[in-house]
Amino acid sequence: MDRRQQLFDRLAPVHQEQLLRFWPELSPAQQEKLAGQLDEIDFNEMDQLIREYVLVRPKTRIPDDLGPAPYFPLVPKDEEQRALYEKAEARGAELLRAGKVSCLTVAGGQGTRLGFDGPKGTYPIAPVTGKTLFEYFASSILRAGEKFGKPLTWYVMTSLLNREATEAFFREHAFFGLAPEQVFFFTQGTMPAIGYDGKLLLAEKDSLSLSPNGHGGTLLALRKSGALDRMKREGVEYLSYFQVDNPLIPVVNPLFVGLHDLENSEMSAIMLAKTGPFEKLGNFCVTQGHIEIIEYSDLPAELAESRNPDGSLRFIAGSPAIHVISREFIEHLTAGGSLKLPWHRADKKIPCLDEAGNLVKPSEPNGVKLESFIFDAMPLAKRTMVLEGRREDLFAPTKNPTGVDSVESCRALLVDRDARRLEAAGVKVPRTPEGKVDALIELSPRRIFDQADVDAYVAEHNLREIARGAKLYLE
Ligand code: UTP
Repeated sequence: MDRRQQLFDRLAPVHQEQLLRFWPELSPAQQEKLAGQLDEIDFNEMDQLIREYVLVRPKTRIPDDLGPAPYFPLVPKDEEQRALYEKAEARGAELLRAGKVSCLTVAGGQGTRLGFDGPKGTYPIAPVTGKTLFEYFASSILRAGEKFGKPLTWYVMTSLLNREATEAFFREHAFFGLAPEQVFFFTQGTMPAIGYDGKLLLAEKDSLSLSPNGHGGTLLALRKSGALDRMKREGVEYLSYFQVDNPLIPVVNPLFVGLHDLENSEMSAIMLAKTGPFEKLGNFCVTQGHIEIIEYSDLPAELAESRNPDGSLRFIAGSPAIHVISREFIEHLTAGGSLKLPWHRADKKIPCLDEAGNLVKPSEPNGVKLESFIFDAMPLAKRTMVLEGRREDLFAPTKNPTGVDSVESCRALLVDRDARRLEAAGVKVPRTPEGKVDALIELSPRRIFDQADVDAYVAEHNLREIARGAKLYLE
């Protein structure tokens, strides 16, 4: 049977035959390209998704028994817990020394809000040197590897759209000093964009409009790419997971990894105390004994605003998307070569071809992108663990050019963290009357991983005071 007819017979029953509209105009190579994309899609499943998520606006069901999730507090509540944290920190360091931990960065997003041309990881973020996000992490990974006496492998997830540019950037910069085999790139899956009428959209005459399938795509992509096999071969048990736009994160955290291990957790998370009931962070909740993260937009206001007798928020725990995940858990989840996580709908302005084949750039949302989220794997774990983190030491998301969660706020947080570290080492740092650091300071992540590194640096250089208004890079 002819190729077009074959495709038509699959598409027509689910009313997607418009995708072949330009078929007669395409060259054989273009026809093959489009056919290849269509072959990747299970159209019966897609039809179901369209009915469930596009033609109607899906409602998140809030379980009746929904409560706030339990967590380990930042400051141990008693002596017993203090001893546990000490043991966990030592255990984490031992796991790192034994090479049982690797880093995992998700860098497959499109970074639309940042509006930067290129993979987000190539954005120059460091406040003084302008080092890129990728270099900042790479330097830190190198230093952490030195500290624990075992080089860390770095798993970097890209999407089909930015894989080439990302790899090329690493090559151009000689992998920022990492051994090339220390970095494992892998590519997440894609999802076709869908118009409000339920029709899949064409980006070009020979191509669907495809976008990355969300950070939930990480888990299956780890299996399909052979990353899990490599980890197993190398005896790696845990992944330290973080997002490419958060350079404040310690690339590995011995306490967090150690507690994950001691608690026999399969998937763990860091939580931050929310700044208010509606802060745009996922909420750690519990239902039927399982931890679940509910998006800020889905938690009903009366729950978001509910308070404990002491006035504190009941649903205080927000998610900065920092995890430790066990390799065995991912192996188990993806065992059959598939993984079903719930989809989340995002209404977007999606450039696409109209019926005449002209490219339309809509000014209002015209369709839906479906993404899965990694945190939806948490309820699937037999055991989980949540640990409170100190916001100013680990969370500086770079979503927008200015304002909230921006390049500006991220740089200010990096400067503030480094200033506090210097102060803790006895250095006098200039501050404004309002307490803002009155200098631009950057500690090299290649040289400094933790407070012990700062103390050593300060002693070695006999550093006492930073001049007001100084612009300093310390390496
Ligand atoms: P965001 O959800 O903030 O998306 O991703 P984004 O693509 O960076 O930015 P916007 O929303 O388009 O402005 C959080 C993290 O998850 C990764 C991103 O690269 C970022 O590190 N991510 C997101 C993926 O790796 N794949 C995806 O499909 C989506």
